[in-house]
Amino acid sequence: MQPMKIGNIDLGERPLFLAPMDDVTDPSFRYVCKMYGADMMYTEFVSSDALVHDSQKSFDKMKVYDYERPIGIQIYGNIPEAMLSAAQFAEQCNPDLIDINFGCPVKKIANRGAGSGMMRDPDKMVEITKMVVEGIRLPVTVKTRLGWDEDSKIIVELAERLQDAGISALTIHGRTRAQMYKGAADWTLIGEVKKNPRMRIPIIGNGDITNDEQADRAFEDYGVDGVMIGRATYGHPWLFKEIRHYFETGEHLPPMSVEDRVDLAKIHLAKSIEIKGEKVGILEMRRHLATYFKGLDNFKETRLKLVTLTDPNELYSTLDHIKEVWK
Ligand SMILES: Cc1cc2nc3c(=O)[nH]c(=O)nc-3n(C[C@H](O)[C@H](O)[C@H](O)COP(=O)(O)O)c2cc1C
Repeated sequence: MQPMKIGNIDLGERPLFLAPMDDVTDPSFRYVCKMYGADMMYTEFVSSDALVHDSQKSFDKMKVYDYERPIGIQIYGNIPEAMLSAAQFAEQCNPDLIDINFGCPVKKIANRGAGSGMMRDPDKMVEITKMVVEGIRLPVTVKTRLGWDEDSKIIVELAERLQDAGISALTIHGRTRAQMYKGAADWTLIGEVKKNPRMRIPIIGNGDITNDEQADRAFEDYGVDGVMIGRATYGHPWLFKEIRHYFETGEHLPPMSVEDRVDLAKIHLAKSIEIKGEKVGILEMRRHLATYFKGLDNFKETRLKLVTLTDPNELYSTLDHIKEVWK
């Protein structure tokens, strides 16, 4: 099997991508996903409009660290000039590529014509893509869905047009905008895009991968070049390691011990505090911390502590306590 490449970025065989997730895949979460072998990662998406208006939060989201490479900065918007400026600005932040989000289904974004809203205006989508490709030096990739709704699954033709606009890879989430996150992801059309003899660029499939066997089938049954995983990594970033292990040995890794999960939670917490400072770092860790201990019996009281304590030392002691009690 050939290693997968995006531009000159070599991602190896059967690469696993961490999906961009707003408010989830911040640098500390990316740190732990990288630790367990994510082959490619992206920042949370950044609004081109916000960048034009100098939003500090958006600038912060574009910071990338060398240990994360290869990493892409993801931008979204629907005003061609703003998207070009955003891409040029993002390029200055020195990622390995720029990814354009044409898939976000959230009402306030899609109904304004950005994110998956662009699926209703493929001409403009292609125009923006071309402008960005021509306006920067780095490879440009696109992440999108199958179409706007059941009656407009345009992805097979759209993929060709985006390729002609010069993108270096395409990620397809196997749902329409109308589906939001409901129903099962349909990988058949992702497979159709991959089978299209006109397509040369790598295709990354996305949607509902939650374990090693599903990741294996995505490569085998649909022929994709890469698999992207989002929600299943939440509270479970070691999924990348489980999948890689399965690919290499055909065996399932045993579940991660509570002790190892505590160690992981500590690393994640420390990174969050290091990057965002004590107050924000702890606050933003709340959504992650308890997820590492899903399924433990009689965990309610400890869980409450993990999502309310503000003192890092107390948090670390609570984590140590978990190690002792739930051995
Ligand atoms: C909380 C959340 C935030 C997301 N934010 C983004 C985003 O910023 N950019 C993007 O392209 N997709 C975003 N997505 C979509 C995911 O990248 C992915 O396409 C989707 O979750 C399907 O993959 P999965 O079934 O593996 O989760 C988000 C999804 C979730 C659940």
